Amino acid sequence: MAEELKVSGGSKEEQYIALIPQIAALISGEKNLIANLANIAASLKQQFNFFWVGFYLAEDQELVLGPFQGPIACTRIKKGKGVCGSSWEKEQIIIVPDVEAFPGHIACSSLSKSEIVLPLIQSNKIIGVLDVDSDQYNSFDDIDAKYLNEILLLLNTTS
Ligand code: SME
Repeated sequence: MAEELKVSGGSKEEQYIALIPQIAALISGEKNLIANLANIAASLKQQFNFFWVGFYLAEDQELVLGPFQGPIACTRIKKGKGVCGSSWEKEQIIIVPDVEAFPGHIACSSLSKSEIVLPLIQSNKIIGVLDVDSDQYNSFDDIDAKYLNEILLLLNTTS
């Protein structure tokens, strides 16, 4: 496991490209999902200083707050509710440029302005979501979707 994360500069894409092998090294050889999710959330926070970054994990018909970095957050989200519950139900990545324009958005913090949510898939089953929030509008695009998804796919190589 790497001793410390090397935070990189450059374009957003260059930053993801520099970060991904470091996350791969960080989680390789560790089978515990929660430990790996915790280090992924911390790595993303350290590199990009996102307002909020973390995981919700599926439990029956709800998502329950998992490892995260940022301000305190809602603990439970029902399937189909908010951006997280919609991403889970639709099994889709959802990019929200303006949270106020997303019907049913759950405001854990009034400072959050845009967000991206990706399904977390293990053994062909959605087990939760990754949620990244920004305090600026229009922070996320297809580059974030592509590379955040690559980061989630790394988890399939650890078990
Ligand atoms: N905004 C999310 C809720 C989670 S928090 O932002 C951390 C949603 O609408 O699902």
